[in-house]
Amino acid sequence: MDIIYAQEVAIEAAKEAGTLLRRGVKERKVISRKSSVVDLLTEHDQAAESIILERLKEAFPNHRLITEESALDDKRSDNSTFTWYIDPLDGTNNFTHGYPVFCSSIALFENGQPAIGVVYDPMRDECFLAAAGQGAYLNSANGNKRLRVSQTRELVDSLLATGFPYDRHTSNDDNLAQHGAFLKKALGVRRSGSAALDLAYVAAGRLDGFWEYRLSSWDVAAGVCIIQEAGGTVSGIEGDHWRISPQVSLIASNGRIHSAMISVLAKVTEQFE
Ligand code: IPD
Ligand code: CA
Ligand code: CA
Repeated sequence: MDIIYAQEVAIEAAKEAGTLLRRGVKERKVISRKSSVVDLLTEHDQAAESIILERLKEAFPNHRLITEESALDDKRSDNSTFTWYIDPLDGTNNFTHGYPVFCSSIALFENGQPAIGVVYDPMRDECFLAAAGQGAYLNSANGNKRLRVSQTRELVDSLLATGFPYDRHTSNDDNLAQHGAFLKKALGVRRSGSAALDLAYVAAGRLDGFWEYRLSSWDVAAGVCIIQEAGGTVSGIEGDHWRISPQVSLIASNGRIHSAMISVLAKVTEQFE
């Protein structure tokens, strides 16, 4: 498989979907709800997904596709070496409000390992991309720039990001205590509303670390690939080995603050035991 060709197809697909979203953010949206009252869906999520699926199916008819909106996971291709993880619109709640922080996220994994990651922010025309062993880059109007994680060593100097689960109105497993603990220790904690962009920003050194519980594979697959290629570290919440699965909790950082982040989360967990 030609990894560079696959990356080009993914970039084209993400940019085409992103163009639809950039136009769509100004339009009136038809909104429905999914798993909870704060888990929204627009026609734009579905239209962007159709564009991406069409491109990928045409170029790679035998690859497995795991997507958010069509719940497409063709069991016939379960044994495929190659799996694509697609979130056509990450940041739907921002999108519905015209808040310009959202992206399209596309990743390819080969035998469970990250091979390609593409996160495209259509509002800033920023495309964060990586291919295994080839480094991570930011492609924008200013050309191609190599991405490296930040050098920050102390939590007190660190800008972090997180997110909160869609069942937070009804579940106590809501990340609020963890958020509070980091607010007391870090320079700041942001909640952008797009996990994929948060991860891309860790890769770009704009954030020093990120954690979130119970995300889906398509939220993080591309971002993880980009962070690893930018020299960062990704693990489970307890510092355990991270692997792709339908539901994922993770810490992603510049590596230097990783153990400090694990300790903060471990202390909060202890309090609940
Ligand atoms: C959501 C965003 C958000 C995160 C949620 C995700 P969606 O994705 O990434 O930042 O906190 O857990 O589900 O629904 O906008 O694609
Ligand atoms: Ca998402
Ligand atoms: Ca989505």
